Amino acid sequence: MPAQSVNGIEIHYDLTGGGPRTCLFVHGSGGSTMSWIRQLQGLADTTRVVALDLPGHGQSGGEGCSQIEDYVRLVRAFAETAQLGKVVLGGHSMGGAVAQAFALAHPERLDGLILVGTGARLRVLPKIFELLRSDYPEGVRFINGRAFSSSTAQALKDAARARSLETRSHVTIGDYTACNGFDVMERLGALRIPTLVIGGEDDQLTPPKYARYLARTIPGAVLVMVEQAGHYVHLEQPEVVNQAIRAFLATLAAR
Ligand code: COA
Repeated sequence: MPAQSVNGIEIHYDLTGGGPRTCLFVHGSGGSTMSWIRQLQGLADTTRVVALDLPGHGQSGGEGCSQIEDYVRLVRAFAETAQLGKVVLGGHSMGGAVAQAFALAHPERLDGLILVGTGARLRVLPKIFELLRSDYPEGVRFINGRAFSSSTAQALKDAARARSLETRSHVTIGDYTACNGFDVMERLGALRIPTLVIGGEDDQLTPPKYARYLARTIPGAVLVMVEQAGHYVHLEQPEVVNQAIRAFLATLAAR
């Protein structure tokens, strides 16, 4: 996996595909580029796809953050250093919070926004913090047990759980702290960026009402709700999600 030094931190990223347009994807709490593996593989024939490991995550150096704005600064510096130009910024869960905050702060740097399994406000159940602090594997198990549709294959859930356990506990706790402090419900109406919102009908962590709120509040946003999918909709139903992204990118090309 290539790496880029960003503000003195080695940031690892995956890159597939090519072409004039770039989709830059940001993972969620305790995650890594692996969260976007099906988009890195499945969209490479359509666009350049980049997914990064946030600091302290995956193969990147440094430490995680506990505020969304700090991740926004890092993503902005990464896009600049890697000379990505204007991007379509996609984010899952906490990554979706980063994408929304980025869009509010730096709209001129974006061609579009893709919000997957996320919300305009991401309060976290106190029990998640309690378990992550007292018994990290149990906390990961609790979250994982609510992160997928009941129709999703057990192997996918097990793989996601194993990956989450590789992230150090304080990094994951920092991510959930960042989520808990995130709230742009009153600000999203000001966005003027083409936006695609994708939600899983069975999502218990960022329920369907969160996706519907985003689509209702961001002017012109397109909503795609996916059946038999939970919080990891982009891993659970990758073909449906990739088709929605393709269609969205085509509308951008036609502008
Ligand atoms: N989009 C739309 N509506 C939202 C929202 C969002 N992102 N976040 C909160 N709301 C709504 C709630 O549904 C609630 O509406 P209601 O009064 O009609 O029921 C209202 O705003 C107040 O919400 P909130 O202050 O967050 O408190 P809550 O009483 O809904 O419960 C939690 C807090 C933590 C129990 C709840 O947010 C939850 O279940 N979250 C999902 C589980 C979790 O921890 N996910 C991890 C996210 S990273």
